[in-house]
Amino acid sequence: MAELTRRIGLSLGADICWPLCFEHLMKRLNLRVPHQGDTLRFEVERVAIQPFNLKEPVGYDVVVDRLTHWMHSQREWIKKGIVMDGLYVFNNPWSVQSNEKHTTYAAMTKLGMPIPETWMLPAKQYSEDQVDARVTLKRYARLFDLGKIGERLGWPFFLKPYDGGGWRNVTRVKTAKEAWAAYDESGKSVMHAQASVEGYDAFVRTIGFGPQTRHVSYAPDAPLHDRYTQKVDFLPKAEAEHLRKVTLTINAFFGWDFNSCEALRRNGTWHPIDFANPCPDSQVTSLHFHFPWMVKSYLRWTVFCAATKRPMRKTLDWEPFYQVAALDLPYAEKLDRYARLADERFETAKFDEFCATHLKHLDAEASEFFATSEAKEAVRQKVAALFPAHEVEQFTELFWKRIQAWRAAGCP
Ligand SMILES: Nc1ncnc2c1ncn2[C@@H]1O[C@H](COP(=O)(O)OP(=O)(O)OP(=O)(O)O)[C@@H](O)[C@H]1O
Ligand SMILES: [Mg+2]
Repeated sequence: MAELTRRIGLSLGADICWPLCFEHLMKRLNLRVPHQGDTLRFEVERVAIQPFNLKEPVGYDVVVDRLTHWMHSQREWIKKGIVMDGLYVFNNPWSVQSNEKHTTYAAMTKLGMPIPETWMLPAKQYSEDQVDARVTLKRYARLFDLGKIGERLGWPFFLKPYDGGGWRNVTRVKTAKEAWAAYDESGKSVMHAQASVEGYDAFVRTIGFGPQTRHVSYAPDAPLHDRYTQKVDFLPKAEAEHLRKVTLTINAFFGWDFNSCEALRRNGTWHPIDFANPCPDSQVTSLHFHFPWMVKSYLRWTVFCAATKRPMRKTLDWEPFYQVAALDLPYAEKLDRYARLADERFETAKFDEFCATHLKHLDAEASEFFATSEAKEAVRQKVAALFPAHEVEQFTELFWKRIQAWRAAGCP
């Protein structure tokens, strides 16, 4: 009986709090997972940025990637690891690179999801170095009337970048004049005009992590640290299940192990509006009460993928979803079928059994850990990186209090 080591790499950018907690918890758990007569041990390491030889194996079984959407040398390292060394990565890097918000709206509309009506607009400006822009636009660009598009969509509507993130350039416009003003400001950004879900009565952000999901009631107008509310079990069971299916369908379709899906409920219908976030917010400064769930989800899915040597799906394989979309069935029944495909792709049943067998002590360990000075120090370090010095104490205490509220509530 041999001891085998599974190596987990953390590819990090500005992350501070969750990796610290992840590393502390892994140490406390000190896992030994029986596997085909051997025992698996787990090593966690932060991935270094350095030159690499294509023929040298990457040396990890799983990489949790939060960096390569903007650090391109590392993105190429990760792709090479997948195609040459059998590496498993969250998320599929080709899908992150190529599937913007726009494709996600288009594909999920095709699958039947009630995505608000969306138009794409040609950019307002082009770069000086796009030498053919002038002649091309002169020949082929058609003048258009944003006011008429507004009439088709209904007022107000949203103007936002087709590849959005962080509420950059998002404007709710109420008149043609406001629409033109926002468009004139948009510069080189390629913009969407999207019908607004007016009068919604619930806003949920569902975080998906492998087969795990968590629904958070979201308050978009609150200050950043209060947007994730601390409500739990606020959704009727059927609606929670509906949003689970929507989120897992999106994530399985695009090969995203972790992502979040924003949906608005109006007249009983859930409209997904923003679900291309394949490196979702994981910071205690926004998640606070939900942060321990996030850390545990990282840990469970990472250990599962490493232990079982889950094979990376190198290509996306959309056909089974399109085959369901083409059936003459109501949307709810199609969604059931999409979700079944997603559960197969995420190995939900196998994952649940793995956690029940090998990670059953995680909840108790996490509850204990999130009362320790190490955990509090991780919170403090993140707060210190984001807040002005005179607010560090106050906000560390605030987020810590919310984590303790999570413990007091029985770690939901
Ligand atoms: N179609 C819509 N109907 C109603 N509200 C919308 C719509 N689109 C956007 N919003 C509002 O604008 C906010 C920002 O839009 P969106 O989430 O698409 O942008 P983003 O830059 O991707 O945001 P994030 O910070 O979540 O990445 C949403 O959280 C929501 O409050
Ligand atoms: Mg959003």
